[in-house]
Amino acid sequence: MTDDSLVLASVDGAVATLTLNRPKALNALSPQLMDELIEALTHLDDDRAVRAIILTGGPQVFAAGADIKAMATASPMEMVTRRTIARWARIRDVRKPIIAAVSGYALGGGCELAMMCDIIMASETAQFGQPEINIGIIPGAGGTQRLTRAIGPYRAMQMVLTGEMLSAHDAYAFGLVTRVCPVEALLSEARRLAETIATRPPLAVQLAKQAVRFAAETTVREGLEIELRNFYLLFDTADQKEGMAAFIEKRKATFTGE
Ligand code: CAA
Repeated sequence: MTDDSLVLASVDGAVATLTLNRPKALNALSPQLMDELIEALTHLDDDRAVRAIILTGGPQVFAAGADIKAMATASPMEMVTRRTIARWARIRDVRKPIIAAVSGYALGGGCELAMMCDIIMASETAQFGQPEINIGIIPGAGGTQRLTRAIGPYRAMQMVLTGEMLSAHDAYAFGLVTRVCPVEALLSEARRLAETIATRPPLAVQLAKQAVRFAAETTVREGLEIELRNFYLLFDTADQKEGMAAFIEKRKATFTGE
C-alpha cells in the first residue's frame, strides 16, 4: 500500500480500518478502487488476528457512487464482460463483520456499499441516497433490494424514484443506521463497537453474521435452517466449551478463535 493507494488500510489490535482514498472524485467507486477494496477485504478476511473491519471514506464523504465517468459510454456487453458491478458481490462473502462509518454523501453505489456492510454508523453530516434515476439508470449493486428491506418498500420507492437523499437522523429513525454521532466522534465510536465485537468468540461472530445476513436474502424457512446449522456447528468449537464453562464457573471467558 502506498499513499496514492485508493484504499488505505491500517490495523490496530484486532480491528482493521479501510479508508476510501479518492477525495477529489468524492470517493467515486472506480473499477480500480473497487479492486483495491476487494483485495484489502480479502486479505483482512484471511488474517486471523483481525476480528472486525471498519470501512470509512473519512470525515468529508463516504462515496458518491459508482464512477459515472468510467461507464458513461459503455455498452451493456462491456458492463457485463468488465463485471463493472458484478465483481462487488465478493464483499458479500467476507466472513468478518464490517462496520460502515459514514460521513457526508453515501450515494448510489456508495449507499449500496454501506448496505453491503453489516452495521452502518453515521455522523450528523451523512446523507444517503440512490440518485441513479437522475442519470437515466437504476441502482445496480443492491439498492432496490437492500434499501427496501432496510427502510421499507414505500420509503425506498420514494428514494429510488426521486433520487432524494435521506439525512443521518432520518436514516436512524428508519433503521438504516444504528447510531448517529458528531463527525469527529464517528471513527472512535465505530472503533468502540468493533472492539466490543472483537472480544466475542470469532467463529460464533462469523456464523452469527452469516445467519443474520440470510434473513435478508432468503426465505424465513431457509434462514432458520442456516441458523440451526450454524448453532449446532458452534458446539464443535473450543470457544463454545470455554464460554459455557466460564459461565458455570462464574469467571470471564478467554476466547481463542478455535
Ligand atoms: N462518478 C464520477 N465522478 C464523480 C462522481 C461519480 N459518481 N461523483 C462526484 N464525482 C466527481 C465530479 O465529477 C467532480 O469531479 P471534477 O472536479 O473532475 O469535475 C468531483 O467529483 C466533485 O464533484 P462535484 O463538483 O459534483 O461536487 P458537488 O459538491 O457539487 O456535488 C454530488 C456533490 C451531489 C455528490 C455530485 O457530485 C453528484 O451528484 N455526484 C453523482 C452522484 C450519483 O449520481 N451517484 C450514482 C452513480 S451511479 C451508481 O452508483 C450505480 C450503481 O448502482 C452501482
